[in-house]
Amino acid sequence: MFVLAAIPVLLAVLRSAAAQTPPGFPIAVSEFLSVTYENTTLQPAGKQLSRPETRMPPSILPPASLPPTSQSILFMIDLDVPKRDNTTREMSLHWFVPSIPPPSPPGSALLIPIPPPGTPYRQPSPPPNDFAHRYVFLLYAQPAGFVIPQSYANINPARSREDRVGFDIRRFVKEAKLGKVLAASWVEVRNGTGAGTGWPPLRTTAPPEAKSGGGKIGVKGWVVGVLVGVWGVGMGI
Ligand SMILES: *[C@@H]1O[C@H](CO)[C@@H](O)[C@H](O)[C@H]1NC(C)=O
Ligand SMILES: *[C@@H]1O[C@H](CO)[C@@H](O)[C@H](O)[C@H]1NC(C)=O
Ligand SMILES: *[C@@H]1O[C@H](CO)[C@@H](O)[C@H](O)[C@H]1NC(C)=O
Repeated sequence: MFVLAAIPVLLAVLRSAAAQTPPGFPIAVSEFLSVTYENTTLQPAGKQLSRPETRMPPSILPPASLPPTSQSILFMIDLDVPKRDNTTREMSLHWFVPSIPPPSPPGSALLIPIPPPGTPYRQPSPPPNDFAHRYVFLLYAQPAGFVIPQSYANINPARSREDRVGFDIRRFVKEAKLGKVLAASWVEVRNGTGAGTGWPPLRTTAPPEAKSGGGKIGVKGWVVGVLVGVWGVGMGI
């Protein structure tokens, strides 16, 4: 009985030892990224924090695999934003900082420029009583000659919720030729019980590969974006 009850816990521990991104996230990463909110380091990745603990952006300690003179690019993405019609979930960009200078002295935390380029940190704010949302952190070495692709001008900076919701990390990585992610982590945050009754289920397998094409979302996408934005304001996301 107790042994059986322990199996899911054990599996979860084993899984978190190997995977630094949650099930359902389209990029699998095995190297751990050290992310620290005030007094809590997300170790192992996937720790749950209360929303107030995530008010200030965390500090990020880059992995040894970041070349010492390389700039880096940081993303934080909510994997679990419910679509307006409650049928499924989509991703939303919470933080995007390109051109982070190499850590100085080497081995220290990243110094995020102020004001940061890219999209400023937005605190996790899942809708009340929804399941805990999973917020993924990804660190890339910034390739020489990196520029934000034209089709992503709307995240430099994101000015509205519509600019953030629907963010497609795989397409960005492809268009910006980012190469392989160095390290990742994630934090879970919920608002209320987290029982989730009535909400669309969380995704446990990665969404299908994005269709190629530019970032133009068209009138339909734009209307949906505005509706999601309006709804998001209401839901506090
Ligand atoms: C973090 O630690 C400091 C010093 O111990 C303490 O004053 C502060 O309240 C802590 N912050 C949180 C969010 O627990
Ligand atoms: C989605 O589900 C939640 C939880 O049942 C509910 O509070 C919310 O109103 C629903 N939204 C829509 C658009 O049906
Ligand atoms: C939960 O969500 C509500 C509505 O968005 C918000 O007013 C409240 O502050 C949130 N609670 C916490 C603990 O963040």
